[in-house]
Amino acid sequence: MHRIAIPFAAICALSGAALAEEQQDGQLLFNNACRTCHTTDEGDNRLGPNLHAIVGRKAGSLEGFAYSSSLANADFEWTKDNLDRFLTDPQAMAPGNNMKPFAGLADEKDRAAIIAFLEDQGS
Ligand code: HEC
Repeated sequence: MHRIAIPFAAICALSGAALAEEQQDGQLLFNNACRTCHTTDEGDNRLGPNLHAIVGRKAGSLEGFAYSSSLANADFEWTKDNLDRFLTDPQAMAPGNNMKPFAGLADEKDRAAIIAFLEDQGS
């Protein structure tokens, strides 16, 4: 009986490639779905607030950005879970917010890829 040995290094290389692919997808998806209104550069607010170091940031907390009262008065942090809920259905998560016209992203994998990309943009 032969056993096929897969070297540990090959498995690591594979999962590293999968991770890199997810991050690349995340960047593309961000460019398509978010970049009209957001950058990830500190201080660079457009129609939407910049998303530099958004994971862990308090909602509605950037100085100098005119948030809706919904986000300005929000009392939570952008954890990965909260981001996922917000990107699924912004109006359900934070009723009355101004992130329009953005109806949400139905695909769980797309949301995860965007959030992984955002997690990489400063902390
Ligand atoms: C049509 C423009 C537009 C698009 C497209 C858009 N956003 Fe926004 N986003 C906004 C606006 C405007 C706000 C501020 C909303 C408010 O004050 O109620 C916002 C707020 C946010 C916030 C809260 C930031 C904070 O400081 O609390 C996050 C997180 C966010 N957007 C992520 C995203 C992501 C990720 C995408 C792409 C999947 C996206 N947005 C697509 C306009 C947009």
